[in-house]
Amino acid sequence: MKYHNILVETNKSIATITINRPKKLNALNRDTINELHNAFLDIDSDKNNNVIILTGSGDKAFVAGADIAEFSDFDVAEGANLAKKGQEVLFDFIENLNIPVIAAINGFALGGGLELAMACHFRIASDNAKMGLPEVSLGVIPGYGGTQRLPQLVGKGKAMEMIMTARMIAAEDAYQCGLVNHVVAQEALLPLAEKMASKIIQNSSTAITAAIKAVNAGFKDGVNGYQTEIEQFGNCFGTDDFEEGTTAFLEKRKANF
Ligand code: COA
Repeated sequence: MKYHNILVETNKSIATITINRPKKLNALNRDTINELHNAFLDIDSDKNNNVIILTGSGDKAFVAGADIAEFSDFDVAEGANLAKKGQEVLFDFIENLNIPVIAAINGFALGGGLELAMACHFRIASDNAKMGLPEVSLGVIPGYGGTQRLPQLVGKGKAMEMIMTARMIAAEDAYQCGLVNHVVAQEALLPLAEKMASKIIQNSSTAITAAIKAVNAGFKDGVNGYQTEIEQFGNCFGTDDFEEGTTAFLEKRKANF
């Protein structure tokens, strides 16, 4: 598929999506959101892909937010629709993919940019990265899941402070509060993402999909995460990967999934 705002590269079973609007600090306009949806859908439906790395082009920004120029004249209904559509098409969509998505935050991750990183399964950052939800400085609130995912990751008090002050935090602070899992120098960011992806692909992809579903279930309204875990755990026993994984262990060899 041809894209104008993103780059997609696949190497072995690791796909890298780079948001590529550096002149606008990779801000998420409508076209970019749609292209990202199509790229994630394409990669997730291809059984040859096992991990996705999401990053931004250039050395300044991961994503500096939703494209403010696109929604500045919206009314109440249009605003609600923007958030609803965006959550469905991209943010919830990523969180519920079958394969893991690692956000490699290479600079500013603000507003919709931080919400995008938080929709990924985990995050790593370069030491120049700055993160925040500055929406209240624009007279609006985070609308792509930020008011829900930030408290899940950093706790309610820290999330309230970040949202109310609209302040950016540095990568080290993001590490301290659990928003990102690792912080490295900018040139080491993609190599680290690739190293982690290479580690993940050695494991059973069907078990990883089951784990994503079980973990996500604990954060869904009206869904019992423990029950989902029981079901997903049981399902694993019917897979070729379970047979290979347990047989390989008993035969004292490396599993070949
Ligand atoms: N939406 C639309 N355009 C954006 C943008 C966004 N969220 N963030 C940056 N841009 C554009 C700027 O308008 C500018 O475009 P121009 O060169 O055509 O004028 C370009 O990207 C570069 O940004 P600039 O502000 O000149 O860079 P800077 O280094 O001075 O500041 C930031 C960087 C990130 C601090 C600043 O761009 C910013 O505050 N962006 C908005 C962040 C935000 O509020 N995001 C939440 C949106 S809901």
